Amino acid sequence: MDKLVFSQDGSHTIISDRFGVSYHSKFGSIQETQTVFIDAGLDYIVSRGYRDINILEMGFGTGLNALMTYQSIKGININYHTLEAYPIVEAQYTELNYPEVLSLTEDQTKGFLDMHKASSGDKIAISENFDFTKHLIKIEDFTTSEKFDIIYYDAFAPTSQEELWTPELMAKLYDMCNPGAVLVTYCAKGSFKRALRSARFTVEALDGPEGKREMTRGKVV
Ligand SMILES: C[S@@+](CC[C@H](N)C(=O)[O-])C[C@H]1O[C@@H](n2cnc3c(N)ncnc32)[C@H](O)[C@@H]1O
Repeated sequence: MDKLVFSQDGSHTIISDRFGVSYHSKFGSIQETQTVFIDAGLDYIVSRGYRDINILEMGFGTGLNALMTYQSIKGININYHTLEAYPIVEAQYTELNYPEVLSLTEDQTKGFLDMHKASSGDKIAISENFDFTKHLIKIEDFTTSEKFDIIYYDAFAPTSQEELWTPELMAKLYDMCNPGAVLVTYCAKGSFKRALRSARFTVEALDGPEGKREMTRGKVV
């Protein structure tokens, strides 16, 4: 049975029984999402002038990345797609302390629960500026005609799921990107960076979240 535990910034994470790892950094789920996905992904793209942004997330999990993206919207429109092969159940997502730790409004909490309840493939408007589509599918089987500006690559680490960090999968993701897009991830493993390069991403090493020296941003130029 998956276990709900506290990470070091006081926010919850889950230890996956199936994969034997946690969904977030033990140093803090919220600080990891903020550094890797919001600062290096969303804020970076916004700083380049984007206002209508298509995001693809690999691994919806607890929904924290989606929630913090939704919470960060100011003067932009987001079309958010997320992939999840093994969704957590209601008894787990209703126990997560993110609404409390992130001081969510009632509307934002409802939005968070609506994301979890969404049926696969249904586009729902969480707010005027945030469209959300969850695909309950393995990334290996996912196809789309959409093109993305940001990919949040939040798979379990290569030590648990090596098959999700391959040159072939990165090439598939490259083809789903708009020119100028970025892929951001906490992973900084050499073989993964080589996989990104072989898929034609330009690779940047950035300072990682607490407890991690480095993270990676791949760019489509
Ligand atoms: C590191 S966790 C994601 C954490 C998540 N972004 C969050 O904010 O809580 C990795 C997620 O990938 C999902 N997953 C594992 N294998 C997958 C696959 N082949 N395709 C799609 N999702 C997969 C897991 O069930 C898990 O939810």
